[in-house]
Amino acid sequence: LAAMGYADWGGGPRPESGHDHGSGEGEGPGEVAVADLVADPALTADVTAELVVRDEGDRVTVNGSTPGPLLRATEGDLVEVTLVNEDVADGATLHWHGVDVPNAADGVAGVTQDAVMPGEEFVYRFVAEQVGTYWYHSHQVSHEQVQQGLFGGLVVDPADPEPVDVDEVALVHRYGGAGTLNGAEGTTAIEAEPGDDVRLRVVNTDNGVATVWPAGVPFRVLAVDGTEVNGPDEVTGEAVAVPAGGRVDLGFTVPEEGVRVDFSGGTSLTVGSDPTGRRTPAPSTVVDLLHYGAPADPPFAVDDPDRRFDYVIDRRPGFLDGRPGMWWTVNGGLYPDVPMYMVEEGDVVVFEIDNRSSDAHPMHLHGHHGLVLSRDGEPATGSPWWVDSLEVGVGETYEVAVLADNPGVWMDHCHNLPHATEGLVAHLMYA
Ligand code: C2O
Ligand code: CU
Repeated sequence: LAAMGYADWGGGPRPESGHDHGSGEGEGPGEVAVADLVADPALTADVTAELVVRDEGDRVTVNGSTPGPLLRATEGDLVEVTLVNEDVADGATLHWHGVDVPNAADGVAGVTQDAVMPGEEFVYRFVAEQVGTYWYHSHQVSHEQVQQGLFGGLVVDPADPEPVDVDEVALVHRYGGAGTLNGAEGTTAIEAEPGDDVRLRVVNTDNGVATVWPAGVPFRVLAVDGTEVNGPDEVTGEAVAVPAGGRVDLGFTVPEEGVRVDFSGGTSLTVGSDPTGRRTPAPSTVVDLLHYGAPADPPFAVDDPDRRFDYVIDRRPGFLDGRPGMWWTVNGGLYPDVPMYMVEEGDVVVFEIDNRSSDAHPMHLHGHHGLVLSRDGEPATGSPWWVDSLEVGVGETYEVAVLADNPGVWMDHCHNLPHATEGLVAHLMYA
């Protein structure tokens, strides 16, 4: 079976894509500095797309639909996306969630660019260096625009892919109350034959955690936040929790009777035939990534970091922008009176995230991936667990190591997006 993206389920058109530099020997992007590749307007992009955003009342659409088109690139491609704002009055941007793009392409209105106002456009360029599952969304009034639909999927395939029979993206989203997968409520059927290998890329575009559970079939967690899991274990009868903003790729082989995959929002996928005929109860056990998969050495030394930072989350009454209320605090301060985490390029930084509030927070750092070292003092013992979106439960403490290798000013905020609006925001800043 051919690989199918969600665009094949009736979404928008796929971008034009020509992977020409893969064939020419000696001309690969590895021989040119990435910054030059991105900045040189004379270089032709491998993947180009124009994304037109429009205000349709309770929805914001991208090329006439929500979610917007699935963008698909190959590792090493120069990606060029033009955002055209037709009439979104607040302006809009595109943030490449989980992709460690150059700072100027990060799409944070008010930080890396101005919002793109109605009638304006903006060109994003970056090299797709990280293989995996990502997504894009507006980062202007994002607690409204993302909820209303200004987002879409992004997949970067390896230059030398391993064959898979079925490759699907499932964007989890609630519009108002109703749960959807790629914009569709209820159950979506995916064609597959018994024996097919499936990679299911689950992207949580909501504000709360999404759980997903393949019923009856053993499965593996193949990747988390775009990074492949080392030596993934086979599990049966467990659920997988995907934090807001996070992605998990699941892998399984379709048995004779098919596979049913149920999601917490009331949606389901059937792959091949439907083995149960209806939703299955959510398993009570959730895969714990702290101990999942096989260990491997991290690519940088984490034992003796150059800097250690506290990121203590709490809540208290006060004034934010002159508005009285209960607001989130970082290290006791109300935004913008919160720390700038100052680093120098090359630093190994360990963040200790300590959630002392009575709500969970899916914390998202832009421009970098973090390696989870421990939770509540318990060391990570499984596969290196790389995150850009990490669910920090009530009372939990995580240590996360980050290599400061992407200069700029980067947001580090809660991806329960109303919480970010209520002050749960800090910045990582290069000296
Ligand atoms: Cu997906 Cu700062 O966001
Ligand atoms: Cu939060």
